[in-house]
Amino acid sequence: MPEEQVKKNIKAIILMGGPDKGTRFRPLSLDVPKPLFPIAGLPMVQHQIEAASKLENLREILLIGFYQPTEQLTRFVHEMRETYKIHIRYLQEYTMLGTAGSLFHFRDIILNGKPEAFFVFFGDVFCDYPLKQMLEYRQKWMRYLLMSVEVSQEQTKNYGVMGINPQSSEVMHYIEKPGSFVSQHINAGVYLLGSECFDDIAKVFNEQDHHGAMDDKLGYISLENDIFTKIAGQGKMFAYVAEQFWMAIKSAGSALYANRVQLELYKKNSPERLNPDYDTVYIHPSAKVDPTAKLGPYVSIGANARIGPGVRVKNSIILDNAMLKDHACVLNAIIGWHSVVGEWSRIEGTATKLDPDAPHATTDNFYLFDDKGKLRPSVTILGKDVVVPNEVIILNSIVLPSKDMGWGLKNQILL
Ligand code: GTP
Repeated sequence: MPEEQVKKNIKAIILMGGPDKGTRFRPLSLDVPKPLFPIAGLPMVQHQIEAASKLENLREILLIGFYQPTEQLTRFVHEMRETYKIHIRYLQEYTMLGTAGSLFHFRDIILNGKPEAFFVFFGDVFCDYPLKQMLEYRQKWMRYLLMSVEVSQEQTKNYGVMGINPQSSEVMHYIEKPGSFVSQHINAGVYLLGSECFDDIAKVFNEQDHHGAMDDKLGYISLENDIFTKIAGQGKMFAYVAEQFWMAIKSAGSALYANRVQLELYKKNSPERLNPDYDTVYIHPSAKVDPTAKLGPYVSIGANARIGPGVRVKNSIILDNAMLKDHACVLNAIIGWHSVVGEWSRIEGTATKLDPDAPHATTDNFYLFDDKGKLRPSVTILGKDVVVPNEVIILNSIVLPSKDMGWGLKNQILL
């Protein structure tokens, strides 16, 4: 169909959060807003933007967050506009307004042009987005269509959980982070909403106003806690249960797993993004890799990174301007921007494993420490500007930015 005949009546909104969110992503979120952290060479939210940009009836994409519109963020938005030839802009909340409050605050911009419906993405979920399928599945009377995936019973307590009528797919119950087991269907953080949802949000807003909510609380509304829990079972909210791989990127470990999944997806959908000399390896065109280095599988190398002779890297992310000196070995790790790993040093973590009960969804360790306060074995992370000397071993550890290390580490966090 020629472009002018396609009715551009769908919008996509990405909830980016802000500096107070993404705490489990530290130390990496100290140096970059979490949604801009690269997964397989592209900022996390770019994968969502790319998925949305493939919809032929997409009108525009709105990024909503309470990050300052820094040069980095502004440049990113500009690049997205150029790359995908779409309308895209960043809208800054004056404070954290919650998942519904932020939509409500910008409702005039969202409803401008009378979109038939709009997608809302959590900025930190990651999957092969079933957007076309959700559009086809949605009926006009479905005010809310929520993507859902099935996870293991153990994982459900960290998410919004829904009881779904198997015949009608209506969401009959919705509970956020339940204390006990309710259902294996969780909220996957991708919604397709009709404009009528603003009637429900307005009702909550007016009630807050009426009950004299404290000034700093006025306007904070959560879709999940304040809306979904109330409207479940009223014939308005439905679930699209997806079978494809899904995960939430909460910790650095899950970012590494997402990197792996995305590199596999490139292999299937856009092999030109992968370096042909290795298996599932992305190398930024400005990075310099010695031909004797052995890379892969599942490795992403950022801009201007330098990989020396005899280096071995597997299942890892090497961020921009990092340097791995001769014969360094990096396994299951994230090496921060401008960090240097000395000759013959070994940086090694423990990879996230898929849950055998829910092989299409993973969340890895939600928390860094176990019930006894011990650091769980996880990926090793070097923050920005860390210098590791020659012949040192760093195992299952997290090193905060700007550390000049003189010794090895095992199962530690170096503050
Ligand atoms: P945590 O477990 O605390 O990470 O939260 P959650 O997974 O229950 O999700 P939450 O509802 O806090 O956030 C869901 C998504 O919406 C994340 O991508 C957040 O960054 C984003 N988000 C949450 N609150 C806000 C908000 O007030 N404004 C904006 N713009 N985004 C938000």
